Amino acid sequence: MPQRIIAGNWKMHTTVDEAVGLAEVLRGKLTDANGVTSVLCPPFVSLTRVGAILKGSPIRLGAQNAHPARSGAFTGEVSVSMLRDLCEFVIVGHSERRAMFGETDAIVAEKVQAVAEYGMRPILCVGEAREIREGGRAETFVSKQLRDSLGALNSANGLVVAYEPIWAIGTGLAATPEIASAMAKSLRSTLADAFGSEAASATPILYGGSVNPGNAEAFVKSEGVDGALVGGASLKPNDFTQIVEIASAVFRS
Ligand code: PGA
Repeated sequence: MPQRIIAGNWKMHTTVDEAVGLAEVLRGKLTDANGVTSVLCPPFVSLTRVGAILKGSPIRLGAQNAHPARSGAFTGEVSVSMLRDLCEFVIVGHSERRAMFGETDAIVAEKVQAVAEYGMRPILCVGEAREIREGGRAETFVSKQLRDSLGALNSANGLVVAYEPIWAIGTGLAATPEIASAMAKSLRSTLADAFGSEAASATPILYGGSVNPGNAEAFVKSEGVDGALVGGASLKPNDFTQIVEIASAVFRS
């Protein structure tokens, strides 16, 4: 059975002090894992402080991006080797990075491989734009995006896939559980082609896009969906805690 995960993507929100405050509140609330791994992904500048707060708790830490090179003349970038000592997960290929920072599938694939090589766990994001869904090509498009974003990765060990339809991110218009479930099935078959069916069934597939305490239950109950990647609601400690508790109740039942 895949690991069940609720990850919070804080995006470019929170000062260091605010991140510390949020992490402290969440640490106080999420005291038991209860069948769900919670992951917080604060901005780079807060990783060290948030990591210190989470030490000894069941909550894991993730970064939101990484440069695939070990080091080099890449002004302003943060490399995988710098992150290795700080966190366990790295979000890779988020649609905001693909759309605003020119990340192609090939670049994403380099990042996924580097993250895995350095012993961290990629949360690889894929998802289609509205026109693609309306054109009836969503599953074909997203499966190809997954295949191309995996590049030459030779093992699904540690890999997490997040299906985040672009039209559902930050819009308040979540996908339906049926859409999430159908996509999870299609992504699992792509993973099976790449890594074999055993590895595919062990790889967590998350849904992301306007997840909140009101719709989380329906998503985590959908067949093939193993958790959620949460943006906006992850900045509200009560909402994030509720989502984790809802997932925990569903996955334990
Ligand atoms: P949202 O963001 O929950 O605010 O829609 C999800 C994400 O971008 O990971």
